[in-house]
Amino acid sequence: MLTRLMMLGPPGAGKGTQAQLLSNKLGIPQISTGDMLRAAKAAGTELGKKAAEYMSRGDLVPDEVVVGIVKDRLAEDDTADGFILDGFPRTLVQAEALADAQVSLDAVIDVVVPEELLIERITGRMSCASCKQVYHKTFNPPETEGVCDKCGHTEFNVRADDTREVVVSRLGSYRAKTEPLRTYYADQGLLKEVDGVGEVDEVQARVLALLSEGKG
Ligand code: AP5
Ligand code: MG
Repeated sequence: MLTRLMMLGPPGAGKGTQAQLLSNKLGIPQISTGDMLRAAKAAGTELGKKAAEYMSRGDLVPDEVVVGIVKDRLAEDDTADGFILDGFPRTLVQAEALADAQVSLDAVIDVVVPEELLIERITGRMSCASCKQVYHKTFNPPETEGVCDKCGHTEFNVRADDTREVVVSRLGSYRAKTEPLRTYYADQGLLKEVDGVGEVDEVQARVLALLSEGKG
């Protein structure tokens, strides 16, 4: 089984949803730069305040900020048996910084979803205010309406950058700065495309099949 993984794909493709499931299944940590930056914002740190300015516009946070956070996180002991990078690297500069830090990847999972569906997915997203479990109002609601399946909490949050206007800007950032990573990792023989359309469990089965076969 391949375990040093990266989830690539546009906003709303299901990177976080799939990474969370894989993390539980394989017992390796999900390392989401978006989640880490939102946690820094919630904690009111200087870094969090600075990052929030970029995030609220749908722009990428500067490379040096994100690279520093990820390097520190990868130095922790729980990454020894593998990890799932979710939303990093997102620029060629970040990808090269990862390679320079001698972090090698086994596979880059590119979750492919058409643009109309991305917007529907993002504008219906909500997450548990306590444990952060991600749901979708229509496509992936909690089993009991208004109650988190995982922890039983009854309050949910909507991300500040999940408005239609900011989503368009996030998609623009993705196309201009992140999409070139597909070629970058394909050239290294690491890119594995996964059809991200279908039920969450179906997509997960496709991801697991690719990882156990170890083929592209
Ligand atoms: P980040 O938090 O990474 O957001 P993103 O890339 O825009 O991606 P999303 O989290 O919106 O989508 P996802 O693919 O994880 O989808 P999800 O699983 O939630 O980044 C946010 C911001 O932080 C960036 O804009 C940037 O400013 C900054 N940032 C972060 N990393 C950075 C970096 N490396 N460099 C610079 N800046 C950085 O699913 C979406 C919805 O669809 C959910 O409601 C879910 O329930 C639903 N869903 C999922 N799968 C399915 C399915 N199969 N069927 C139906 N519904 C589904
Ligand atoms: Mg995400």
